[in-house]
Amino acid sequence: MKKRPIILSTDPGIDDAVAIALALFSEELEVKLICPIFGNVSIENTKANTEKLLTLYQKKPKIVMGSSRPLLREPINASEIHGESGMDGYKFPDPTIFTDNTQTAVEAMHEVVEQEEKTTLVGIGPLTDLALFIHLYPQDLAKIEQIVVMGGSLGRGNYGVLSEFNFAADPEAAKIVFNSGVPIRVAPLEVGDQAKIMPKVAAKIKSYGEIGEMIYQLFTKYRSGSFEAGLNMYDALAIALILKPEIFELAETRVEIETAATYTYGASLIDLNNYLSLPANAEVAVNVEAQLFEQWFIDTLARTAK
Ligand code: RIB
Ligand code: CA
Repeated sequence: MKKRPIILSTDPGIDDAVAIALALFSEELEVKLICPIFGNVSIENTKANTEKLLTLYQKKPKIVMGSSRPLLREPINASEIHGESGMDGYKFPDPTIFTDNTQTAVEAMHEVVEQEEKTTLVGIGPLTDLALFIHLYPQDLAKIEQIVVMGGSLGRGNYGVLSEFNFAADPEAAKIVFNSGVPIRVAPLEVGDQAKIMPKVAAKIKSYGEIGEMIYQLFTKYRSGSFEAGLNMYDALAIALILKPEIFELAETRVEIETAATYTYGASLIDLNNYLSLPANAEVAVNVEAQLFEQWFIDTLARTAK
């Protein structure tokens, strides 16, 4: 069966590192292109981390560097969560798989979309490059099967009082994505909070050889949740949303991004009660069956054992 082509915009980042493994080792996805972007840490670090990960995973999708900063706002980062390098906790072998410097991320996205019948765009970092692609290649949008993003929150944020990091890192880009008219699915903070990775799962993954050991060591340094009380694998939920939509409760609703306020800049207004009386522009995951996610997470990462 033909695998589903995807393009991954990512800011590794510890939960990104796991999400990239889940996408690359799944049986159903073909990762055509990975575009590291600024976010958790600088573009220099997310690019270097992408090269290290693909070298360890021994997988060779094209890597093309994305944006180094947001469209308008000043850059933010999450090094306090992921460490200064963005992947503290493991000494990676020197990379042997490198970024293609002959193209920009949006040119490479356009090339993939032209070649494929339909492509899924996946954003698990700031949405800057998805927004630039939408503005520079509007003729390509008919060939985008779906945009799937990790971002936003039904309630409180993890970066601001009401803002989640990915959308807060580039609110204007997030607004462009939600105004694109392309079918969108969203994994907000809450489904990651419902499906924390517990120590017994981490211990099982540790047994999966060199990749499992790497993931386990990153878990020990990751500061979103806690190793003992459960780790927030937010980006992994976006990959699950592509491959296992049946384990989620989805709400078709309006998502608006606040870009004109002082204290709520970057907040996602997920209008489940239709207060805004605006047409739906996304399917938002409001609940997930945590046990089914955990089993899929374990089974897919088991495929990394050499
Ligand atoms: O808010 C969680 C998101 O911000 C995740 O994508 C994590 O990697 C960070 O980028
Ligand atoms: Ca991320």
